Amino acid sequence: MKISSRSGIAIVIMWAAGSFNSTVQAQTKKQPLQLRANNVKQIVAAMTLEEKSKLVVGMGFKMPGMPPPVKGKKPEAIDIGGFKLPPSDPDAYNIPEKVPGAAGRTHAIPRLGIPSMTVSDGPAGLRIEPIRDGDKSKTYYATAFPVATLLASSWDTQLVNKVGVAFGNEVREYGVDILLAPGMNIHRNPLGGRNFEYYSEDPLVAGNMTAAIVNGVQSNGVGTSIKHYAANNQETNRNSINTIVSERAMREIYLKGFGIAVKKSQPWTVMSSYNKLNGTYTSERRDLLTTVLKDEWGLKGFVMTDWFGGKDPVAQMKAGNDLIMPGSPSQSEAIVAAVKDGSLSIKQLNANVERMLSVIVKSPSFTKYKYSDAPDLPAHAKVAREAAAQGMVLLKNDDHALPFYPAKRIAVFGNTSYDIIAGGTGSGDVNKAYTISLMQGLTNAGFKVQEKLSGSYAAYLADMKLKQPKPKNFFDHPAPIPEMDVNGMVADEAAGADEALITIGRNAGEGADRKLEGDYYLNDAEKGLIRGVADAFHAKGKKVVVVLNIGGVIDVASWRDEVDGILLAWQPGLEAGNAIADVLGGMVNPSGKLATTFPMDYKDVPSANNFPGTPAAKPESVTYEEGIYVGYRYYDAAKVKPAYEFGYGLSYTKFKFSDLKLSSSNFMRSITATVTVKNTGDIAGKEVVQLYLSAPKKDIDKPEQELKAFAKTRLLAAGESQTLSFTIKAADLASFYTSREAWIADAGKYEVRVGSSSRQIEEKASFKLAKDITVEKVVKALTPEVAINELKLK
Ligand code: BGC
Repeated sequence: MKISSRSGIAIVIMWAAGSFNSTVQAQTKKQPLQLRANNVKQIVAAMTLEEKSKLVVGMGFKMPGMPPPVKGKKPEAIDIGGFKLPPSDPDAYNIPEKVPGAAGRTHAIPRLGIPSMTVSDGPAGLRIEPIRDGDKSKTYYATAFPVATLLASSWDTQLVNKVGVAFGNEVREYGVDILLAPGMNIHRNPLGGRNFEYYSEDPLVAGNMTAAIVNGVQSNGVGTSIKHYAANNQETNRNSINTIVSERAMREIYLKGFGIAVKKSQPWTVMSSYNKLNGTYTSERRDLLTTVLKDEWGLKGFVMTDWFGGKDPVAQMKAGNDLIMPGSPSQSEAIVAAVKDGSLSIKQLNANVERMLSVIVKSPSFTKYKYSDAPDLPAHAKVAREAAAQGMVLLKNDDHALPFYPAKRIAVFGNTSYDIIAGGTGSGDVNKAYTISLMQGLTNAGFKVQEKLSGSYAAYLADMKLKQPKPKNFFDHPAPIPEMDVNGMVADEAAGADEALITIGRNAGEGADRKLEGDYYLNDAEKGLIRGVADAFHAKGKKVVVVLNIGGVIDVASWRDEVDGILLAWQPGLEAGNAIADVLGGMVNPSGKLATTFPMDYKDVPSANNFPGTPAAKPESVTYEEGIYVGYRYYDAAKVKPAYEFGYGLSYTKFKFSDLKLSSSNFMRSITATVTVKNTGDIAGKEVVQLYLSAPKKDIDKPEQELKAFAKTRLLAAGESQTLSFTIKAADLASFYTSREAWIADAGKYEVRVGSSSRQIEEKASFKLAKDITVEKVVKALTPEVAINELKLK
């Protein structure tokens, strides 16, 4: 460190005055300016333009299979599967990674004490390299928690928060600053390839689940990035698809959950999405990222792009997309040039930098947290198992097909019974140490299984796996192994076993949407398997139960009558088999409810004609003609009967709802609804109480009813009751009037409907609103460039 001549003179004078001591020395030596929690503005003022341009652009990342840049040679863009990636930053290769396998890093600026932050996926668990440099003496596995769709089906925000606390501990203890999750896009269409990463078709569920998990993760002093903001509801042509959607549908459906999450949990960051929204990339839309997200909702943290998302780094800065990921030096150069030629104001760049720094000062990298690389994985596996069992949904249970009693001998069919799917693929996948198969889970729980059948499956799968091609890249996934032909075995199995269990599995992930044939609909081998087993077992008076090990909605209507029970186990994380066995065996009474509708047929889906867009061969745009009528909002208003409705799920016990009371019959500022739920069956269980509101229909279309509040009871013993209360505020009454750019609650009669599903309403009450209330006026935003022929059902 250099001492300037001025401070050198000062030291000499003080020494001469006899007052030299270490304290005075510290005060007088000119300390270099270093980032602190309270000097962010001063740091911004001290940064050079080049430093600012580096901070707002990530350090690049080592794309698997991508050659490192050659020293002295200008790095070139590379093509992966027709998509051009900008050249990576040589720093990504030259600066040793803090956490191998993490998705990205920000640049450090050591001169000012600004550390690099490490960010890593993903929604179901921390995605990092489990084995480093081939060293098997120490591993870095993470917990694969159940996927988001399962967590949402628990309808239990406390439980989801508990998952977040455990999850965030792994983020911190593995040295990561920001988790690139949770995902919270709306399930617009069952074929969405990433639906498993997302919670629900309903924004209230999605928003509250997100807030619960974000609060849990962030309680560890690490950040999150809620994603993908916004209207990113498909994977087909995801990097440039233009989503055309009305401002009302955006505000009531696609943005609403993000707003709830920002207000209730202040995520450290938000990730903008890949798609265009009404003609402009989301990462380049100022109205989306600044007007709505920061000004209207009050996000304090920063916005980052999705990896290689958007096109124009200067437009991204202007829009308030504060960080470009994974980052390329050419983006920093463009930002510097734009400030120099006046096309980007330094004021805007400073604002972007300031937001970044205000998060950096909270990060473990800044506080130099000494992470252990040894989170308590066994404890977290218990949380994963508990959450998994709580989010499974019992869809069908004729004549007490479930629970299985321990003495029963089970014939276990279906490839995925032996090769269970813990979670989806892509950045939503987790490098876990193990996954408990259903077969293992059943054996662990003490069930007797048909061993010869299990042996045949094990041999078949081992053989087929050897023949499976290796994935060519991150987006390539070999086709699933066809179901084993059991025709020659079912008769013997039906004679020897007491019940049959069949698992049907599905997997998907980023980069592609699911297909209708052989994915949404069962393939012929699966149909044959169900039919063959059902015929043989039913002929002997024995029952057949299907477990669905899936990440998104599939057809159930065409085959459900052939079986006695269906347990929707979703993709339950690394403790999959144990958790499924917990529910099948009745150790856990199922209490999950659908947070997404299972339609009678795909053609009933409101977006069926507008997914994944046009032209069909390579969609460039997709128009959300269904407007606000997404999920149950459509099925209810259009009077289309689903196979299993939103909110649906059975239990091994029964509940009775009673005494719905409203605090007033006239709405003033708020109304409180109370309702009592009693377990009227003979075993302990939990019930989800759902409160829907039906609003008066005046000038604009409104859904028949909308979920406004929900809660899960505690575990109620047989005969036990619990009274729950919910507060309804003015905002809950309001719809978005585009013509007035305002949320307005219309005067009139509102009906409160409380029940155990959207179609199982147990209690009703109503109140009146005397005069319209303008709940909130907002700034016009997100306007479509073209007219949309939106569905009207009024
Ligand atoms: C995904 C993001 C993910 C990012 C970093 C992208 O391909 O869309 O969800 O966080 O990669 O891995």
